[in-house]
Amino acid sequence: MGSPCLALYPEIRAAHIIGMTVREITLLGNPILFGPAAPVADPCRAEMVELVTDMQETLAVAGGIGLAAPQLGVALQVMIFHLPPARSADGQGVPLTTLFNPSLEPLSDEVVEAYEACLSVPGLAGLVPRWRYIRYRGWGMDGQLIEREVEGMHARVVQHEYDHLIGLLYLSHVKEWSNLAMTAELHRQAVCGQKDRS
Ligand code: NI
Repeated sequence: MGSPCLALYPEIRAAHIIGMTVREITLLGNPILFGPAAPVADPCRAEMVELVTDMQETLAVAGGIGLAAPQLGVALQVMIFHLPPARSADGQGVPLTTLFNPSLEPLSDEVVEAYEACLSVPGLAGLVPRWRYIRYRGWGMDGQLIEREVEGMHARVVQHEYDHLIGLLYLSHVKEWSNLAMTAELHRQAVCGQKDRS
């Protein structure tokens, strides 16, 4: 792999669509990010539909690829994520997926490191080891079971969001200080690197 895949986590964009229910994202320091989230008894309840809609709109405006309910101040086991085709291993992308009460397990011992960032820790990125292959399951908006075996960036974003539901941030997995960086600095290095190669 070349330079850090910062495009995976673009910078936060300003809200620009009037009328959307975009909620404030909790930031590092908010205790809700460090506590476990509770299971959802009934994903089909109207309150859950409203929560997921708000999560989708907030994620869209923030320009991220995943969001967990504690990041909107709600300590429930709900996550959403998606991947554009260019960012998925098979080039197919991952449609916007909602998971209630998710669980996951590794399918091999293989671990890969890549940079991650988090909407709750704006401006920072860190090298994080994650399982390369996982199986995850959870319940969708319609109450149907979703179970997938995935790899690469798809597996990474699910592990990142799952961490939010058990009170972890990616920072917990960063092995040393030198594996942390400001995203602005990484972008600057990536730009300089491209110039060097041309
Ligand atoms: Ni995050």
